[in-house]
Amino acid sequence: MALTAEQQQTLVSTNASTPMGELFRRYWIPALLAEELPEPDCPPVRVRLLGEDLVGFCDSEGRYALIDGFCPHRGVSLFFGRNEECGLRCSYHGWKFDVEGRCVDMPSEPEESNFKNKVRIAAYPMIRLGDVLWAYMGPPDARPAPPEIEWATLPAAQVYVSKRLQRTNYLQALEGGIDSSHVSFTHRFSLDDDPLHAGALGNVYLKKDGRPRFEVVESDAGLYIGARRNADDERYYWRITQYLMPWYSIIPPFGEHLIGAHAWVPIDDETCWAWSINYHPLRAITAEEHRVMRSGSGIHCVYKPGTYEPVADASNDYLIDRSAQRAKKSFSGVAGIAMQDASLQESMGPIQDRMKERLGTSDSGIIMARQRLLRAAKALAEDGTPPPGLDPAAQRVRSAALLLPKDVPFQEGAAEALQLRPNTAFVSL
Ligand code: FES
Ligand SMILES: [Fe+2]
Repeated sequence: MALTAEQQQTLVSTNASTPMGELFRRYWIPALLAEELPEPDCPPVRVRLLGEDLVGFCDSEGRYALIDGFCPHRGVSLFFGRNEECGLRCSYHGWKFDVEGRCVDMPSEPEESNFKNKVRIAAYPMIRLGDVLWAYMGPPDARPAPPEIEWATLPAAQVYVSKRLQRTNYLQALEGGIDSSHVSFTHRFSLDDDPLHAGALGNVYLKKDGRPRFEVVESDAGLYIGARRNADDERYYWRITQYLMPWYSIIPPFGEHLIGAHAWVPIDDETCWAWSINYHPLRAITAEEHRVMRSGSGIHCVYKPGTYEPVADASNDYLIDRSAQRAKKSFSGVAGIAMQDASLQESMGPIQDRMKERLGTSDSGIIMARQRLLRAAKALAEDGTPPPGLDPAAQRVRSAALLLPKDVPFQEGAAEALQLRPNTAFVSL
C-alpha cells in the first residue's frame, strides 16, 4: 500500500487547480474564530487558506466575507483598507469592494466613468456557526448545506474552540490525529496528569496494551477507525475514532470528560491551522474547564501574546524537559498533549517524504484515509463526482470508547454509539 510519488504529490498539494485543492474547495472550511472579527466594521484580518492570500471582514450590516487580499488597481494589500459603509476601501486611491467582491466605488476616476462596473475581485462567502466563521471557496453552484458535525451545531456555551499554527502540511497533522496507537506512547504519562483526561477507566487499558489491533471501515463521510486493546478475558476495549472528509477527526472520549475533535486546514502546503475543539452534548463547559484549556491543557496550547502561535516551538526545542522524560512524567519530555503532537509532527519537516516511510499494521487508518482522499479527488477531477461527506446527514456521527465481548464486531456492538442522537450522552468509559 505504498504511495507512488505522484500520489504523494497529489495528497499534499492544495493550491487552486490541483486535484486536492479543488476537492477541498467543495467543503465549508473553518476559516477564522469569531473573535477575530468581533463586530460590524471592525478591522479586517489577513487570511491565507489553501495557498490564497485573502482578507476577511465583517461589513456594516454584519455580513462576513473573504475577499482577494490585494487591490486590483495597483496591488496594495486590502488589510490596510478602511472598513466602512458596507465595504472595504483601499487606502491608496479609495477603490471600495463589497462582500461579493464588486467594486462599488472608484473615487479616483472621472465621475462619468463606468470602469468600476468592470472590476470585480474574488470573494468567498463566510458564515458564523457558534464561535467559528466558515468559508466556502468552491464554485457557487456547488455550495453545500452548512456543516452539521456535532461541535458546529451545539450552543456556543457547550463548545470550546482554539486554533494553533502548525508548521507542517495538513496531511501529517491529520495523520497524527487518526493514529490512535501513538496515544499509548506519546501521551502515556499525560493521560493521568491532564485534567481533561485524568481518571478515565480507559486510560488503564490504553497504558496496558500498546499494541492495538485496528479495524477500519468506510462510513458515508469518511472512516470509522476502530482500535482494539485487550481489557480482560472476555472483552476488548475499543476506541473508535471518526475521520470525516476532508480533514476532521473526532477523538474517542475519555470517561465523562469533554469530547475532543480536530480540523487540520491547509494555510498553504507547508503550514496548517490545527483547530482543536472540546464539547459536551449535554452541558455547558465549566469555568474550571475553560481555565485549564486556556492554560494549555487537553488538546490546547499557550500562545505567544497576540498570536495563535504556540510559545513552545522548534526554536526552543518545544521546551523539552529531559528530566521529566527520564522521570517518566512525560514520555517525550514535551509538556501538553497538543505540543507533544506538534513537536513530533513538525520534526518530520514541513512535508514528510512518504517515499521513505515504513508503514506497519497500526497505520491502516492512515492508509485508508489517504486512499479515500485520493479517490475523491480523482473522481471529482475526472467526472465531477460530488465528494463524500457533504450531506449533513453523513456528518451526524460520534466517536466512542467502550468494552465489547470479544466475538462482537465493533460495527455491530457500537452501531448506536457511533450515531449522533441529539441530547443524548456519548458512550465512553
Ligand atoms: S491600489 Fe487600491 S485603489 Fe489604488
Ligand atoms: Fe496525539
